[in-house]
This record gives sequence, structure tokens and C-alpha cells, in this order.
Amino acid sequence: MRVLGIESSCDETGVAIYETGRGLLGHCLHSQVALHAEYGGVVPELASRDHIRRLPLLLREVLARTGLGMQDLDAVAYTSGPGLAGALLVGASVAESLAMALDIPVLPVHHLEGHLLSPLLAADPPSFPFVALLVSGGHTQLMKVTGVGEYELLGETVDDAAGEAFDKTAKLIGLGYPGGPALARLAAEGTPGRFKLPRPMLHSKDFDFSFSGLKTAVLTTVNSPGFCEADKADLAAEFQAATVEVLVSKAMGALRHAGLRQLVVAGGVGANLALRAALDAAAAKRRCRVYYPEMELCTDNGAMIAFAGALRFEAGEQPADGERRFAVRPRWSLQEIKSPRAAG
Ligand code: KG4
Ligand code: ZN
Repeated sequence: MRVLGIESSCDETGVAIYETGRGLLGHCLHSQVALHAEYGGVVPELASRDHIRRLPLLLREVLARTGLGMQDLDAVAYTSGPGLAGALLVGASVAESLAMALDIPVLPVHHLEGHLLSPLLAADPPSFPFVALLVSGGHTQLMKVTGVGEYELLGETVDDAAGEAFDKTAKLIGLGYPGGPALARLAAEGTPGRFKLPRPMLHSKDFDFSFSGLKTAVLTTVNSPGFCEADKADLAAEFQAATVEVLVSKAMGALRHAGLRQLVVAGGVGANLALRAALDAAAAKRRCRVYYPEMELCTDNGAMIAFAGALRFEAGEQPADGERRFAVRPRWSLQEIKSPRAAG
């Protein structure tokens, strides 16, 4: 089964084709970073308009790259939430219209399920069950994953998400949008420890996180007398070290709690090299292993949506009908979704 995947939940437009039994045939991505940069963050209306402009071009491009025609597609999967309502509607409209025109089934996919399953697309994938650390711009969660759609929440952030903390801290330090990668680059030039930031909830004995206090501590440091341009790299390095320490400690605790040895890391912050190095080292000590998506599939993309859709179609999930069609869910918890067998 060849599934076309469409992602348009935020500031990347992604289109991909995944074939059951063969793997990812191709994927195309357009990032809106340049479009939003002058505003210092994502402008929802501009995001929607750009998705409208890009989707037909990307669709043509992915077909050309894979040497396929529209008639070779067997199904469509699209991100129906969570995300920006207008941006999601663009993907939903294109996906539903295509499916209608081609008379093929269409499935709405949960964006975070796409992230969560994306490490299974890698060359040496993990197998169920595993613990997943989901670290994106809007979410920070630890989950026990026993199968597609079987996600037991172990803990999550009580305030900001890890990516959000990176983005907000970057802004406080005077770095532009997108903040996460910029902060990580600056952190690589600095030394942690010269400034002291808290490790929120490090010893809370649960698997929850809190990152908003860290951001406040950064603000206090930036506003303190004598803080200057030359100090920024050291502060960025300390912020990154604090965030990484908490994420690693909680992830290792969750592995122990679940009695599992495989940790899957997904979402944009999973691209952070310091986090990867620290997770790998901590896991190796415990004879555990960490799995990541391919670097280019860490942040938003269509491949993870095509893949998640294909797994659900394969498991027998029936496409939505009636009122559920064209439905987007800007706020949608991963724990609300069902396993494919129970869905339909
Ligand atoms: O998963 P994603 O692409 O979009 C959401 O679903 O949210 O994640 C985006 C988040 C942003 O907050 C971005 O700053 C962060 O991931 N991010 C990073 C890095 N690359 C992306 N944070 C830290 N280090 C990075 N290298
Ligand atoms: Zn995402």
C-alpha cells in the first residue's frame, strides 16, 4: 500500500510517500523559517497561506522524485492535530480533496504519533515495547509504548515544553527565531557551570518536568548588573546543560520504572547533539539503548505522517466518514487516541 502523507501543522510543509513492505519512497519539505524570521516567531495566518502555496508544488515534486503518478497512490494520511487551526485546515482540505478525487481512503493522523513512531523508520529500528521521550516545541512527555496507538503517559511537563524553553531562552538572550537550534549553536561555544541555573524537579521522584522557572532564572541572569555579550555563550551552555540533565535523569528513571531497555527520542529537541550525547552515555551505563529518528526526520516532516498512516491502515483502521471528515483538532492529547484495532 502506497500512502501519501501530508504535514502542515505549524511552520513546515511536508509531503511524503511511504510504501508498506518497501519503506519511505521519498519526501519533500519546505521550511517557513525565512517567512517568519522578521516577526521573531510563527505568524499563523502567514503559515496557512504559505502551506496553500507550497503543498501543490511539493506534491508534484515528491511524485517526480519517486517516479510515481497520482494513480499510483492507494491512500492519504494527513496531520489533523495538534497544531495551528488554519495551517491544519490547509493540509486537511488538500488531503480530503485528493482522496475524494482519486477515490482512495484518507486517514487523519495525530502529529505526535507521527513523531513518536518516526524512529521506526530508521535503518536499525527499535521494537515494541519501549519508553518514548517526546520533546517538541509544544510537548514534553515520557510514555510507555506497547504498540501503535498504545501510549501510557508516565509523566509530562507541568508548564513549558522543552522546545518552548529553548525558544524562549533564545529570545531572552537576543537570538532570533527559530531559537532552539541557535541556542544550541551558541551553547557549543560556551562553558556550563560559570552561571548556576536550577535543575527543576530533578528529584521530584516522578516523571514530570517543569521548565518555566529555568526561563525566569535566565531572565534574572540576563538582567543582572555586569552581564554582557561575552557572557551569553556560557549562559546558553548552562541552560542547555540544565535542560539536558533533567531530561536524561527522568528518561533513565522512566526506563527503570517500566523495566525496559529501549528509549526512543522524538520531536525537534531530539536534534540537539548535547542531549543525544548525554542520553547515549547514560543509557550505555545501564546497558540500555537510545533510538532516534534520522536527523532530517527529527523536526516536522511528511514522512512520519505517511508512515504513521500506513501503520494504521495496515492494522485495519477504517477511514473517517461523515462529520469526522475535514475535522482538525488544534488541541488534542495523544492519550485520547485509540489503537488501530479499536479505532474505526
Ligand atoms: O517537533 P518540532 O519540529 O515541532 C513541534 O511539533 O513542536 O519541534 C520544534 C522545536 C522547537 O522548539 C525548536 O526550537 C526545537 O524543537 N529544536 C531544538 C533543536 N532543533 C529544534 N531545540 C534544541 N536544540 C536543537 N538542535
Ligand atoms: Zn512536531
